[in-house]
Amino acid sequence: MAVRIDPSILAADFANLEAEIARVATADLIHVDVMDNHFVPNLTLGLPVVESLQRVSALPLDLHLMISDADRWAPVYAETGAYSVTFHAEAAADVVATARRLRQIGARAGLAVKPDTDIAPYLELLPEFDMLLIMTVEPGFGGQSFMQSTMPKLSRASEAVAASGLDVWLQVDGGISEKTIELASAAGANTFVAGSSVFGAENAAEQIALLRELARSAAGAHTH
Ligand code: DX5
Ligand code: ZN
Repeated sequence: MAVRIDPSILAADFANLEAEIARVATADLIHVDVMDNHFVPNLTLGLPVVESLQRVSALPLDLHLMISDADRWAPVYAETGAYSVTFHAEAAADVVATARRLRQIGARAGLAVKPDTDIAPYLELLPEFDMLLIMTVEPGFGGQSFMQSTMPKLSRASEAVAASGLDVWLQVDGGISEKTIELASAAGANTFVAGSSVFGAENAAEQIALLRELARSAAGAHTH
């Protein structure tokens, strides 16, 4: 089964993003956290930085929008040529219309839910999405502890994806490290965001390889 490791540049040196992206060249995607100090109590980067990253990244960009008014802004981010744009269900008025707009522009459409948000209403809409992001921490900050309480929701999403026969990726984000990735993989995740555990490692390539290996072997334990 395919396993993807997406280093989050939130944990990288913001003064040297091009070099930091080069450090994680063996990863699958580059996870970019856009925060607006409104949907979440933190501010990171916006369109101009995303456009610049788009020019220097050899890996596809996986944008995670933690911003209000996603219906209006997600398509604008997709227009940068981003490979994948994920917006929050809590921040969108019409998740289906927004996802369709993203696909029309040519981006993969991702839907994210915070730890306390139920995924059930969205599982009926699976054909509209390319990825579901089950947050494993409260969005807003890197370096938080993985919330194991989100695993039943992940398993439920995984069962729905398997039953649908669709290739909807299941992403986890927050507190993913060599200590937690197997749990998330066994619960059905196949796309793993890792900020501090990758950028905090002395050898990022080795850490990516370790995470990938742990996720792969734990996925074997998962049965549908
Ligand atoms: C948190 C962000 C995450 C963050 C994860 O709101 O969405 O992508 O970078 O950081 P770690 O892996 O350090 O928990
Ligand atoms: Zn993120």
